[in-house]
Amino acid sequence: MINMHVSVLLKEVIEYLNPRPGENFIDCTINGGGHSLEIFKQIGPNGKILGIDWDSGVLEKLESKLDNKTKKSFILICDNYRNLKNIVGNNNFSPVHGILFDLGMSSWQLGASGRGFSFQKDEPLDMRYSENQTLTAKEIINQWPEEELIKIFGEYGEERRARAIAREIVFRRKRGVVESTTDLVEIVRGAIPARQRFGRIHFATRIFQALRLATNEELENLSKGLEAATDVLAAGGRMAVISFHSLEDRIVKNFLREKAREKKLEILTKKPIVPDWREAQENPRSRSAKLRAAIKL
Ligand SMILES: C[S@@+](CC[C@H](N)C(=O)[O-])C[C@H]1O[C@@H](n2cnc3c(N)ncnc32)[C@H](O)[C@@H]1O
Repeated sequence: MINMHVSVLLKEVIEYLNPRPGENFIDCTINGGGHSLEIFKQIGPNGKILGIDWDSGVLEKLESKLDNKTKKSFILICDNYRNLKNIVGNNNFSPVHGILFDLGMSSWQLGASGRGFSFQKDEPLDMRYSENQTLTAKEIINQWPEEELIKIFGEYGEERRARAIAREIVFRRKRGVVESTTDLVEIVRGAIPARQRFGRIHFATRIFQALRLATNEELENLSKGLEAATDVLAAGGRMAVISFHSLEDRIVKNFLREKAREKKLEILTKKPIVPDWREAQENPRSRSAKLRAAIKL
């Protein structure tokens, strides 16, 4: 069950996107289609969904799950959502009434994809969403200069021990290639004081987050995706973004504020919407989720 992805803030996403019969929606991170199928209940059968995911594997799974009738209303595209403008243009998808971003990875990618997203598993250091990407976490760990490692651990992981951990990695990789998540966890363990090994969050959490963000250029994707989404939305169209950590949420918050100042968007969520206690209890993955939404002016 741990690998079954449960869509986060589903009711709230529908409330803020407010899909109506016959409208067109874009799901920039469609994965298993949890949010999209719920949107489709409101817009179908005449409305359409343009579903994007960078991971071809999750799209294949979704396609095999959709019945033939529903399939006709879904356009599924394997691409990075930072290319949203081209994707929309190439598919003549217009007008766009709503856009959703549900950031990061799914439970399946974390738990069962075998790509090294989790520090709790012994897997190769990969961390790519798409097999078309060339950069892997292994390359970063084994080849990037120490200063670059310090930078990503500090900026993307907000890791206080960035310097010590980078130094330990550079020392250890001289003795042989760092191959697996377990190798990396052991290196991090060796670089931090003993008392930090038993904190509330696992001591490798921040390093794994930093590596995933760097491997996939996630924060750059997000900034570019938000900009493109604002451009392709029709006037009166809505955008909703679910983020899972403070770096993402800060980008979303600042972006929406800037566009509100420019009178391009009106913010619908003064404060981010978070899961209620019931959802937080039932789906631990939802606990860090924050939803922000806006309407195109
Ligand atoms: C949290 S899951 C989405 C779950 C989905 N909303 C649901 O309810 O089933 C995030 C998805 O975004 C995809 N993803 C991450 N970065 C992406 C990017 N830059 N472009 C397109 N898809 C991306 C991942 O492959 C993953 O499938």
